[in-house]
Amino acid sequence: MQDKIKQLKEEALKAIGETQTVAALEEARVKYSGKKSELQEFLKSLGQAAPEDRPKLGAMVNEAKSAIELALGGRKAVLQNSEQTKKIAAEKVDITMPGKGIRRGHLHPLTQVMEEAKGIFIRMGFEIAEGPEVETDYYNFDGLNIPPHHPSRDMWSTLFIKDDVLLRTHTSPVQIRVMEKRKPPLAIIAPGRVYRRDSDATHSPIFHQLEGFLVNKNVTFGDLKGTLTEFLRQIFGKEKNVRFRPSFFPFTEPSAEVDVECVLCKGKGCRLCKETGWLEILGSGMIDPNVFKAVGFDPEKYSGFAFGMGIDRIAMLKYGIDNIRLLYENDVRFLEQF
Ligand code: PHE
Repeated sequence: MQDKIKQLKEEALKAIGETQTVAALEEARVKYSGKKSELQEFLKSLGQAAPEDRPKLGAMVNEAKSAIELALGGRKAVLQNSEQTKKIAAEKVDITMPGKGIRRGHLHPLTQVMEEAKGIFIRMGFEIAEGPEVETDYYNFDGLNIPPHHPSRDMWSTLFIKDDVLLRTHTSPVQIRVMEKRKPPLAIIAPGRVYRRDSDATHSPIFHQLEGFLVNKNVTFGDLKGTLTEFLRQIFGKEKNVRFRPSFFPFTEPSAEVDVECVLCKGKGCRLCKETGWLEILGSGMIDPNVFKAVGFDPEKYSGFAFGMGIDRIAMLKYGIDNIRLLYENDVRFLEQF
């Protein structure tokens, strides 16, 4: 009996000493000192021992019990301490580590130029209107004094959806849509995407225009010149010369194309301006009486001017971008430069 107790005590102390986790220690506690442990059974069976041996055996069992409990307590402190240390080490934050920098985004160069252009006209008193990108033949052509089969339709390489439904080739249809619904005086700009069957270094099948028109009594070509000259100087710099060149559009009469002094050679002539010293920026003119008739305005009473410009082209000239595709590839290495 005595040997058995001794052996049990040693086995328990060894097992406790070898536990590596608090959980394993708990298992050892149940096994060696719990209610169903061998030691506990021993205590119960003490009654069967010879009466003279009982006190000694009882004392031995109690001594073993307290030794085991002491060992359990000691080991528990050790294990808890090391688990805590490991946990702290795992959760440690190195406050000296450099932070993960957040990359700041910004507006796309096209958006920047569009916003700048809109801002200039808004400060002059123009308001913004929009129209659909999928248009009918009427708004894109007929209403603008471009009858079916008229040779001038060649100017706009149109992408058709159905016979008389198409992707608008310019923002001019918005002129008709606004004038159909409202009465003069009107000072409107219409920004938006337009589409043409065209693709090379300077042409994209999708690009952006800013349309503008002003209708009132006694609007003159002088108003057109003043408005557009001021706009171009704000966009390209106030020292830049601007010139108006006779041109043709079915929806304006007379019509003019407006050039600005070359941004690269400042008028001397270079590759960018094809040695002319000038960059063609926009189309414009006095609104044709036939357009007024189409929307029910009296051309004897009202006059007005209209203009349209390519925002992609202006962005390319302003920033010296030589391939329009760069504006649509969304390569951050390119976009980050603006
Ligand atoms: N809509 C014409 C184009 O896209 C530009 C323009 C607009 C010309 C308004 C005159 C007046 O080519």
